[in-house]
Amino acid sequence: MKYIKLRDLEVSRIGLGAMGMSHGYTGSGTDEAESIRTVHRAMELGVTLIDTAEIYGPYTNEELLGRALKGRRDRVVLATKFGLVSHAGAGAWNLDSSPANIRTAVEGSLKRLGTDHIDLYYQHRVDPGTPIEETAGAVGELVAEGKVRAFGLSEAGPDTIRRAHAVHPVSAVQSEYSLWTRGVEDRVLPVLRELNIGLVPFSPLGRGFLTGTIRSADQFDKDDFRRDNPRFTGENFERNLRLADEVKAIAATAGVTPAQIALAWLLAQGDDIAPIPGTKRVTRVEENTAADAVELTAEQLDTLTALPPAAGDTHTEAQQRMLER
Ligand SMILES: NC(=O)c1ccc[n+]([C@@H]2O[C@H](COP(=O)([O-])OP(=O)(O)OC[C@H]3O[C@@H](n4cnc5c(N)ncnc54)[C@H](OP(=O)(O)O)[C@@H]3O)[C@@H](O)[C@H]2O)c1
Repeated sequence: MKYIKLRDLEVSRIGLGAMGMSHGYTGSGTDEAESIRTVHRAMELGVTLIDTAEIYGPYTNEELLGRALKGRRDRVVLATKFGLVSHAGAGAWNLDSSPANIRTAVEGSLKRLGTDHIDLYYQHRVDPGTPIEETAGAVGELVAEGKVRAFGLSEAGPDTIRRAHAVHPVSAVQSEYSLWTRGVEDRVLPVLRELNIGLVPFSPLGRGFLTGTIRSADQFDKDDFRRDNPRFTGENFERNLRLADEVKAIAATAGVTPAQIALAWLLAQGDDIAPIPGTKRVTRVEENTAADAVELTAEQLDTLTALPPAAGDTHTEAQQRMLER
């Protein structure tokens, strides 16, 4: 496994997204033992960057990682997120990045994760009700107290990134980025590079779609959030299948799997990029982590970069309003 720096935080350039072990996807929360084996296998394979959030569950994903990392905490760069649970207010799925809410959130996350510090603490979504300077200042205080090592943002736009960074250095921005979601390339990535901030692409496998294993929405459990996602519904789903088939065809010529193609393409975009593919299965973490060794030819990369855009928005309308693009 190769390692890169997100500003001054060294991480494996392929991380592990833990969300789906507890939340959101088909089979989430059904096999804790396999999820924990997956975390341990990832670590054996050199993965250090492990990603969760207090909203995943809520809380159960952090609790799961707390159990998985018992006795191994110091071998990982543990990332979690605040700001989608308003503790003194309306509860889960409500934006709140006020300093008071961050103070409450961090104590809960530390306890659930079984640690005295969070390596990378992201604001999960920009909160229009709190000036980003106040949020950055509050995280800066946690850094000074040793409870947090580095500050991150998620789905923040260029202006917010600059304003936050002016108050406390931002180490990483975590935003959706993959072969079928390229929105960060135009305005966000240049600012990150100017300011020496790393990019952590989430949903790098297109929420599983780019792996070619999803052929019908009938494969999803009733509570799988992809059932409402515009890219996975109706005509968009059918059109996007063609995109997945193209990735599959390139994978066949390269002699690797579609998931590895999706990750290798992201890695080729720069050594300041560390995707966090999500899985709750040992075999898939082995497959995904092996993408670190995949070198695509210039021709393969060009073909992938030129793939047609996906059909449909990345999120539902309500979720879309929380993204700064
Ligand atoms: N900041 C944010 O707002 C935000 C939003 C979404 C996600 N995230 C983070 O990013 C991480 C990754 O994103 P994601 O989980 O949404 O999407 P993803 O990594 O693009 O895809 C995950 C899905 O693909 C499947 N999968 C994984 N490896 C596979 C393989 N080799 N072959 C076939 N299928 C495979 C997984 O199923 P199995 O688990 O069954 O293998 C899961 O359903 C999350 O875990 C979370 O930590 C952050």
